[in-house]
Amino acid sequence: MTTSSAPGKVYLFGEHAVVYGEPAVPCAIERRARVTVERREDERLRVRANDLTLDGFTVTWGGETDTRPDVDVPAPLVEAATGYIDGAIAQALDAAGEPAAGFDVTVESDIPLGAGLGSSAAVVVAGIDAATRELGAELSSEELADRAYQVEYDVQDGQASRADTFCSAMGGAVRVQGEDCRRLGEVPTLPFVVGYDGNTGDTGELVAGVRELKHTYGFAADAVESIGDLVRAGEAALRDGDVEELGRLMDFNHGLLSALGVSARSLDTMVWAAREADALGAKLTGAGGGGCIVALDRTEQTHTALEYTPGCTDAFRAELDTEGVRVE
Ligand code: PMV
Repeated sequence: MTTSSAPGKVYLFGEHAVVYGEPAVPCAIERRARVTVERREDERLRVRANDLTLDGFTVTWGGETDTRPDVDVPAPLVEAATGYIDGAIAQALDAAGEPAAGFDVTVESDIPLGAGLGSSAAVVVAGIDAATRELGAELSSEELADRAYQVEYDVQDGQASRADTFCSAMGGAVRVQGEDCRRLGEVPTLPFVVGYDGNTGDTGELVAGVRELKHTYGFAADAVESIGDLVRAGEAALRDGDVEELGRLMDFNHGLLSALGVSARSLDTMVWAAREADALGAKLTGAGGGGCIVALDRTEQTHTALEYTPGCTDAFRAELDTEGVRVE
């Protein structure tokens, strides 16, 4: 039996613009998904998850009853996989050079789902790592990130950047621009606070909305380019350890995302509550439409303020996690 875990992430800067080749800086946070994989005698795949809704084999499940069927592991599995979990298992079989094998898979996660915190990427990264090790093989973090990206790409019909999977595999603050992904060196302490409105945005629809705006209005295309410029300024602020400048740039980034139509009243309310509580800066994280905001909290005040903000169902501190995927 092997258990691996991988972190979720927040976007410090650059979501949406990253779809058009601009750079983005996601940061891993200390909230993890844990996946336990145990090889079976037969070639079936059984998945258990507590209070988790995942597009696993295309069906969703959650709560007390595990309604999922167990599934035969067909070969070749890579082509047959349609969800995050069987996709992860397929990649592990391929990496280990095994034509087929059965597994019991248990998923636990403390990352809010579909809320811009990279929950599916963390499950896929941890799943590939645990299953590969269970088969007696081991992957570099880079190969793991690459294989996890393939799974997200397939499940999300090509609507995925490498940001979530690379960040989850490597940990820390990373820079992603197209296929060019790298970890950033020393970064200052980033006291993140996350506010969650309990909703999920539809990433595909939101990405399509930005594409449409960009197509219709030259100034929307300019806004996307401005996000790219802002990310480059953010990288300099990270290098200089200038957290006040990072906060200002987060505010600016939220404004540009709002202009592109991907914010929501609940997200704006939490962003303003954070700002009024003396956060250094605040913005939505991920696709938007609902889900999470991230603020840089210089005191405890932002966290407390978010806890009392109408529409905020959960608020938590989430320090930068310098560790990516790991064996538990
Ligand atoms: O909501 P998330 O964490 O899946 O982030 C989506 C970020 C986008 O830039 C909108 C899309 C992408 O794949 O990069």
